[in-house]
Amino acid sequence: MSMDVYISAEEIEARVKDMAQEITQWIGDDEVLCVANLKGSFMFFADLIRHLRSQKVKVDFIATESYVGTQNSGQVRILKDLQHTCRGEKLLVVEDIVDTGLTLSKVLDHFLTMHCPSEMKVATLLDKPSRRRVEMKADFVGFTIEDAFVVGYGLDYNEYYRNLPYIGILRNTEER
Ligand code: IMP
Repeated sequence: MSMDVYISAEEIEARVKDMAQEITQWIGDDEVLCVANLKGSFMFFADLIRHLRSQKVKVDFIATESYVGTQNSGQVRILKDLQHTCRGEKLLVVEDIVDTGLTLSKVLDHFLTMHCPSEMKVATLLDKPSRRRVEMKADFVGFTIEDAFVVGYGLDYNEYYRNLPYIGILRNTEER
């Protein structure tokens, strides 16, 4: 198994700052709940949030599970829900990557039916549109990438590599 650097730490830092500016404009003077979908988005979330220039930013976390190795099982489970509801507030869902779209589709349905935000937008660091199984479009996208299994900057392969400061491509994993 070998690792190639795909997106460097410097490229990530610059893009995350730009995304934070766009998101700050969308928030305006409103209250916003920013929700990280754990675990993959934890690093992106921390960096993104620290660059938001809005006054009324709150954070919360959900956890979902769908992958085994490099395979999406097709079954998305919500392991942990929000601590408080965000009824009538703006909601920003922060994802590490949108791949098949199944996870995000489940998460958005869950928020709309259980938490009733006034407006909901999605920020994802990475987007792999060629792998979609359901129609799904994030509002703020860091990088659109090819069909490859990537790790680092929060993303894992069997729980490893989350600590890397860059995004790498993992070659020679099992067939996807
Ligand atoms: P989806 O449901 O197929 O869109 O996948 C969403 C989740 O699968 C992401 O939040 C990731 O945790 C994981 N995932 C999808 N593609 C990759 C990848 O290339 N590397 C690491 N994790 C991935």
